[in-house]
Order: sequence, then structure tokens, then C-alpha cells
Amino acid sequence: MEIIVADTADHLDALAADRVADYIRAHPGRLLCLAAGQTPLGMMRVLLDRHRRGEIDLGAMRYAGLDDWLGLGYADAGSCAQFLRDNFYHPAGMPADRFRLFDGLTEAPEAECREMEAWIAAHGGLGLSVLGIGLNGHVGFNEPEHLVRHGPSRGCLVVDLDETTRRVSQKYFAKPLPVARGLTIGFAELAASDRILLLAGGAAKADIARRAFAENATPAVPASLLRTHPRFTVLLDPAAAAGWHGPSNTV
Ligand code: PGA
Repeated sequence: MEIIVADTADHLDALAADRVADYIRAHPGRLLCLAAGQTPLGMMRVLLDRHRRGEIDLGAMRYAGLDDWLGLGYADAGSCAQFLRDNFYHPAGMPADRFRLFDGLTEAPEAECREMEAWIAAHGGLGLSVLGIGLNGHVGFNEPEHLVRHGPSRGCLVVDLDETTRRVSQKYFAKPLPVARGLTIGFAELAASDRILLLAGGAAKADIARRAFAENATPAVPASLLRTHPRFTVLLDPAAAAGWHGPSNTV
């Protein structure tokens, strides 16, 4: 595991974009899995700027959405589909056949999972996955309780969202939207990515980042299980590293 502490939050965005750009140049055509959420937004803006300047070609890649709220769709501001389309795919001018997002409005969630699995398999498995970390340590919607009970799931799955995730969900929505279940790429599928970049920024993430990356690995903190991945990088801003991590290092 490589842990990098950026100098500032903006620096984190730039470093994350550097890693993604390097991957795009080295592995054109591979599958990128991008999390939605507040954490990767700055990185996406940097990538879009570089794309517009012709420094990278975002259209060279294929993309898979990491997760979404079951019952919400593009019209629901704050859904992952809305976030990713409006903040990344549309501004990048991405052709529709280059990316696949979970359809949270599906009437058949299991079939939706099988379709995402087929998309991932058809494009050679996950290349680079860019993840955040939830306040409960989840990656995607791989919730602690699910990991503790069932272990890491391959493929994609429908999950019951835990209490923390349901509470935190409301920060994304302009109006209260009850969410109880989610669609997600499973933990084992993510862990099979060629390379994983996990971003954490802000003081609110310092405690869970410490538990995930400075204490013993445990399914109760799902992100901690990524530490055995051979190409796993954690990028922190100073606030997320505060109190538990000094200068950058590789362990
Ligand atoms: P955030 O979400 O980037 O909005 O903090 C992270 C997560 O829940 O995985």
C-alpha cells in the first residue's frame, strides 16, 4: 500500500488526475471505474481541463459506474447517475457506448447486476478503480455488515444500506429522498482491479482513514481489506491525514 499525503485539497485533485492520466496513457481502451460523490469531483474537473486542452483523451477509455441508489435515476439530483453524467460524461462529450452506469430505476435489480458484470467482463475486467471511502469504511456500497456476514462478493450485488450510509445519503439530495438499498460492484470484483486509487479528503474522513489504513485490516472496515492489493494507492489531503499520518510513505 502506498500512502500519499497531498499538500492541499487542490493538490490532491491534481495528484489524483496525474495518476488517472498516467493510466490512460499506459492502458488506452481499458475500463475505468469512477466513484461518484464529493471526493472525486475536483479530480474530475482537472481531468476535464486536461481533456479539453488535448493533453489526455478520456474517450480512449471505457467506464463502469461504481454504484447507485436503488429507486433513484438521472432525474433525481444526487443520484450517482446524475452526478457522473452531469459532472463527467456529458462535459467530456463521452459517447454513450463508452460508459455504463447502474440503472437505479430498474424493476429487475438482479438482472441489472448481471448486465454490469457482462459489461465489465466484455471489456477485460476493471482496469483502474478510483474510489472514495464512506464514514463507515465502505467502498462503493460494500457495507461493513455485508462484508462481515458474507465476505467479499464477486460480480455485482444489491445491498441493504446501513444506517450510516442512509443518513449520509441525504447530503447528496436537494430534497429528502429515502434510500434503503443500493446497487454496487462487489468488493471482490473491485479488489480484482488492475490498480486502485482511493481518495479521502477533509477532517470528517480522518478517523475512518486511520482505522482503515493504520489499524488492523477487518471486514468491519471494508476499505482496510484493499491493503493487500499489489497496486493500491491511498491519496489523502492534510485534513484526512491529520493526527494519524505523517509524510508520504509506502508500506
Ligand atoms: P463522498 O462519499 O466522496 O461523498 O465523501 C464517499 C463514499 O461514501 O464512498
